[in-house]
Amino acid sequence: MSDDKLKSKFRPDVIDPVEKKLMTQEGVEMPVDPEVQEFLGEDIRVREPVPPTQSPEILVVKDLKMHFPVTKGLLKRQVGSVKAVDGVSFTLRQGETLGIVGESGSGKSTVGNCVMRNLTPTSGQILFDGQDVTHIKGKELGEFHKRLTMVTQDPFASLDPRMKVRDSILEGVRINKLVTDKQEQYDLVARMLTLVGLNPKFSDRYPHEFSGGQRQRISIARALAINPAFIVCDEIVSALDVSIQAQIVGLMMKIQEELGLTYIFIGHDLSVVRHLSNQVAVMYLGKFMELTSSDELYEKPLHPYTQALISAAPIPKPKVDRQRERILLTGEVPSPINPPKGCNFCTRCKYATERCKTEDPALVDVGGGHMVACHMVTGK
Ligand SMILES: Nc1ncnc2c1ncn2[C@@H]1O[C@H](COP(=O)(O)OP(=O)(O)OP(=O)(O)O)[C@@H](O)[C@H]1O
Ligand code: SF4
Ligand SMILES: [Mg+2]
Repeated sequence: MSDDKLKSKFRPDVIDPVEKKLMTQEGVEMPVDPEVQEFLGEDIRVREPVPPTQSPEILVVKDLKMHFPVTKGLLKRQVGSVKAVDGVSFTLRQGETLGIVGESGSGKSTVGNCVMRNLTPTSGQILFDGQDVTHIKGKELGEFHKRLTMVTQDPFASLDPRMKVRDSILEGVRINKLVTDKQEQYDLVARMLTLVGLNPKFSDRYPHEFSGGQRQRISIARALAINPAFIVCDEIVSALDVSIQAQIVGLMMKIQEELGLTYIFIGHDLSVVRHLSNQVAVMYLGKFMELTSSDELYEKPLHPYTQALISAAPIPKPKVDRQRERILLTGEVPSPINPPKGCNFCTRCKYATERCKTEDPALVDVGGGHMVACHMVTGK
C-alpha cells in the first residue's frame, strides 16, 4: 500500500511524533517509547534482575496485621476474622522495588492498601521516611497521599469514562491544589503523557478510545502527575498481553530511574516481578514465606512453596523448559478465616512433619539477608 493510501486509511492528525506510527481510527495502535523499544521483541523474563542498593530506608513495615472482622446476624456479631495479612515485616530503600508474589487471596493487595493507608492495620507499624504513619488521619493523611500513590490492574476503575484524559490526569493535582495555573496544568499533562510514551494530543480523548496498554499508561501518568516518591503497583500488567507487559515494565523501570521512585510491585507472574525487583517476597495466606534479593530467590529458592511456584513458571527457552522438573501444588489454599495451626503451608507441603502442624515457623535470616519461614530449612 502506498504512503498516501495508508494515510487516507488512517487519521493523519494522530500520527504520533515520538513513535512515528499511524494510529487507526477504531483503536489507537500501541505506541512505543524509543527508550522502551529495546524491551520489544525480547522476552522480559530473560533479563537479569536488578541488585539491591545501599540507599536510605524509605519504608519500614513491622509485624503488620490486617484482620477483617467476619460478622453474623442482624446485630452483626463478630464470629471470626479474615487474617488477610498476619505479621509481615520488611524494609524498602529509596529507589528500590519490592516485588510481592503469591497466589490469589494471599494478601498482596491488602499489604499494598495498608502501606497506602487506604486501610488502618489491625496492628503493627508503618514508618514512611521516618514518620510513623500507621494511624495518621485527616490532614496528615492527605499530606501523606501526596507522596504515595497506587496504580491498579484495572485502569477503568481509576479512569472515569466520562472524563477526558486530561481531567483524569489532573484530578489529584487539582484536589491537592498542586498546580493552579491552567496553562501550567496543560503543560504538566503534556509532560506526563510524553513521559509514559503517549502523544500529548491524546489529552482531549476519553478512556474508551485507547487500548488496554495505553489506558494503563494513562493511569501511570495520572499517578505521576502528583510527583510522588513511592508507587504501589498492584498487578498493573497482569491483564495485558506479554509484549505489552514488557513495554509497561520497561516504562516503569525507566521512570523509576529518571525520578528516583520507590515501588512495591505486586504480581502473579514471577518472571515479570523478578525482572524489576531488587527484593522479592513470596506471600502465602497472609505471611511472607521467603524474602530475599531477586537474584537469590530465583537462583536458590529455599522454601518449598517458592520452589513450587518457580517450577511452575514458564521459562522462555522451550528446550530448558521441557527438561525442568515441575513441582505440582495440590489442594486448595486454606481459608484465611481458619488458617492451619502450625505452618500455613503444611496442608500442601510434601515435606510437612508433625512439628509443622503445630509450630508456626518464624521468618529467619539464613545468611546474607535471605529470609525463610520453614522448619526444614532453618532447622530451629
Ligand atoms: N475488605 C475486606 N473484607 C474482608 N475480607 C477481605 C477484604 N479485603 C480482602 N479480604 C480477604 O483477604 C484475603 C486477601 O485478599 P487480597 O485481596 O489482599 O489478596 P491478593 O493476594 O491481592 O489476591 P489477588 O491475587 O486475587 O488480587 C482474601 O481472602 C480476601 O477475601
Ligand atoms: S515448615 Fe514444614 S510444612 Fe512448612 S514449608 Fe517447611 S517443611 Fe513445609
Ligand atoms: Mg490483589
